[in-house]
Amino acid sequence: MGNKEATVFVVDDEKSVQESMRMILKDKYPVYTFNCPEEALADLSLEPDLIFTDIRMFSMTGLEFLKKIKKIRPQVEVVMITAYPDFSSSLQALRSGAFDYIVKPFGKDQVLEAAEGALRRRNRVIESTRMIQDLRKAIDLNYEATTRALVLTVDAKDSYTAEHSRRTSELLVRLGKRIGIPHSKLITYKRAAELHDIGKIGIEESILRKKGPLAPFEFEKIKQHPLIGYQILRPTTFFGEGLDIVLYHHESYDGRGYPEGLKGKKIPFPARLFAIIDTYDAMTTERCYRGKLSFREAIEEIIKGKGKQFDPSLVDLVVPHFSRFEKDGYLQMLQKT
Ligand SMILES: [Fe+2]
Repeated sequence: MGNKEATVFVVDDEKSVQESMRMILKDKYPVYTFNCPEEALADLSLEPDLIFTDIRMFSMTGLEFLKKIKKIRPQVEVVMITAYPDFSSSLQALRSGAFDYIVKPFGKDQVLEAAEGALRRRNRVIESTRMIQDLRKAIDLNYEATTRALVLTVDAKDSYTAEHSRRTSELLVRLGKRIGIPHSKLITYKRAAELHDIGKIGIEESILRKKGPLAPFEFEKIKQHPLIGYQILRPTTFFGEGLDIVLYHHESYDGRGYPEGLKGKKIPFPARLFAIIDTYDAMTTERCYRGKLSFREAIEEIIKGKGKQFDPSLVDLVVPHFSRFEKDGYLQMLQKT
């Protein structure tokens, strides 16, 4: 953005100051003058880029005004106008985010210099904010592509994984919203749920694709996938608490699960919640070694698992939501898409 497009506000209770500022600035910038801060605040929709404000005004001090402005529009640059070199309040203004101050009586060059400096800083801030946003976008896009690649890698070994991961992560988000899990946490839970079986990368295909029951040694191998997944994802910063889903989604409320055999509330909350979703989806999907259960049958199994595989109070909390999702067709839609 060139300075030509920058809009300048002048706030001063002296008309003569307003006028001389306007004369100095008007050839370079659109200038709006105000008698008091309230008027300027009421006209913020004009989107000022730079505000010159008197430091001593009747209704509120320039400092108070500065703080208000910075709260509403942090990117607006502010230059204070002081009647005499009052260093303590000027210093305070600079500390509170003012760009500079000018002392009355001011000369043309002094005003233009302050305006140009302030707008240069503003452009730098805008530019770096844009760069950070672009960078975030690129990271997010890369994150999604990387996740997709990882899921497809497991899917090549175990064709059930990609769709299962998609369904369970979507269901987790939907359910999480209903039971009041904050959005920021749900983002990390979702990411982890999408990759919760990533550790299957480290398990032989012959075991993953085996039809019929697994031999004990094969089951021991399968039981390693949560830990392998956790080790793969732990070095990244994308998952936060969600990592607990990866490591503990096969823990059982009665302590008979794996990998650590944690019991009851020692199993982290997201993992206790996800275990219900994971099992529900597994039961209602056709697998090579067994047929699928109906919605009713699956919910009955989950209720039977209260206190055994699942946290009983969590089952009570989520089952009504499952029923609602069934009624409004969401679960059926998840299976199809
Ligand atoms: Fe798993």
